[in-house]
Amino acid sequence: MAAYPIEEHIYDVVVVGAGGAGLRATLGMAEQGLRTACITKVFPTRSHTVAAQGGIAASLSNMGPDHWQWHMFDTVKGSDWLGDMDAMEYLAREAPKAVYELEHYGVPFSRTEDGRIYQRPFGGHTTQFGEGPPVQRTCAAADRTGHAILHTLYGQSLKQKAEFYIEYFALDLIMSEDGVCQGVLAWKLDDGTLHAFSAKMTVLATGGYGRAYFSATSAHTCTGDGNGMVARAGLPLQDMEFVQFHPTGIYGAGCLITEGARGEGGYLTNSEGERFMERYAPTYKDLASRDVVSRCMTLEIREGRGVGPKKDHIHLHLNHLPKEALQLRLPGISESAKIFAGVDVTREPIPVLPTVHYNMGGIPTNYWGEVLNPTEGDPDRVAPGLMAVGEAACASVHGANRLGSNSLIDLVVFGRAAAIRAGAVVDRAAANPTPNPASVERALDRFDRFRHAAGSVPTAELRLEMQRTMQNDAAVFRSSSTLAEGCARMDGIARKMDDLSVTDRSLIWNTDLMETLELDNLMPNALATIVSAEARKESRGAHAHEDYPQRDDVNWRKHTLAWIDGPRVRLGYRPVKTEPLTPPEQGGIDPARVAPKARVY
Ligand code: FUM
Repeated sequence: MAAYPIEEHIYDVVVVGAGGAGLRATLGMAEQGLRTACITKVFPTRSHTVAAQGGIAASLSNMGPDHWQWHMFDTVKGSDWLGDMDAMEYLAREAPKAVYELEHYGVPFSRTEDGRIYQRPFGGHTTQFGEGPPVQRTCAAADRTGHAILHTLYGQSLKQKAEFYIEYFALDLIMSEDGVCQGVLAWKLDDGTLHAFSAKMTVLATGGYGRAYFSATSAHTCTGDGNGMVARAGLPLQDMEFVQFHPTGIYGAGCLITEGARGEGGYLTNSEGERFMERYAPTYKDLASRDVVSRCMTLEIREGRGVGPKKDHIHLHLNHLPKEALQLRLPGISESAKIFAGVDVTREPIPVLPTVHYNMGGIPTNYWGEVLNPTEGDPDRVAPGLMAVGEAACASVHGANRLGSNSLIDLVVFGRAAAIRAGAVVDRAAANPTPNPASVERALDRFDRFRHAAGSVPTAELRLEMQRTMQNDAAVFRSSSTLAEGCARMDGIARKMDDLSVTDRSLIWNTDLMETLELDNLMPNALATIVSAEARKESRGAHAHEDYPQRDDVNWRKHTLAWIDGPRVRLGYRPVKTEPLTPPEQGGIDPARVAPKARVY
């Protein structure tokens, strides 16, 4: 056994991750008097939510008529009917409340002339159950909405006396022998000490795994750490084949240009100067859903109508918009375009390309954030002591494709829901569980094995091999042959984890070791993604399979489950929840409204 001194901490709740979901959960827990710790590998306001630009969806009706049922319908359609109806109803119904709470906490939203929260159009958000014009539903703080939310939630959490453990890297869940989560083991990066956090409830809010790909809008910290911990605990990941490509990453750099740019009137053109989205999506054009726009851009490039010397990207025009509007509504992306593409948006188009942006899949949960450990007989079985929220989780509210601005609202609605649930189920008077020594020992052994890894493959080299494979073989369009090749390649890559070379053996600020542990988290995410994609013989949302171009509701309207053990992935499935939470006679949506149909924009 690896021998390391361990400092022990005892809390009611431990939240891992301090992005929008983690902070909203932390705040909600602390407000109810639960002893709450938040562990985070970066300073809270540097979490990836800080990069969220365009806004947060809620049917406030500040700019025209809107209704939570229209928001729910758009979310269902956006999900390509893979999302769970109970979670989608909960999101759309609770969204206005959650946004007003943010306003009262102090989020500096942009304002209309009469002082209301400003809302802009975003892709796939419509009126009249998809029959009316686009709706202005996305509440914005210029194009720095995530930044505004994160700073506010951090300040509020401190006010409620939540305790922060900053620059602590969570290594593994501590699990009892009968599957109860008892907390988490963490490594303090600046002094090398190890810490066991005992908790009655552990909440994973560790974000997505965009960095499994070569080009992503995600921060380099987005390494699916919670998903990795869950996989090692023997729990499944869900719907991992659904990876969102944002239509407008800056060509070459990958930085995000918000969909809000098209919401404010921007449009895409090909090498012939044609506004090609009018051909593919005659009603909503550039404001069709993201998966649709990304595919259309890819088709234009494939058919030789890309722009630039290599004809390998597309132009996004904002140069027709008034300078004052750009300054007021899109100051951040105007700056990014200058820095990362050398473009003055008031004069020239921005070169853009679909870029990995979001993971619809993740840790399966119910709409209270409780992690699920499904069995054949009980697809909704709860894993005791464990919750997941935000991009790490799969509630499943986005199904096969997420609508823009539904991520920030997911973070706060489900962060808040997890806090409400924990307030109800955590017994404040009960003693904390004693961390299972066998589980702690397994975690320490893994840590120590990587610390002393003396193989022949540097971590950065293996990471790049994985990223290139995922970028090529699990892309916007997939086919039976690319997916089969990708599975074989990823199997070989995962096996090289046993031959890694870590050169720094120290414990203090050892970035070599930390990146290796992150790679060990990315690997199960990448494997689950490509194996789940290979198995799904249909096209749905972000999973565009060239050999199976149609959606197949009879055989494939079901969630994929992936259990990962080393390089091996075992798949199973669980049913989609097709019943909304509230019956129509009690004010719920008419189920016929959200029954599957062709998805056209
Ligand atoms: O385009 C954007 O501003 C991104 C928003 C989102 O992913 O929800």
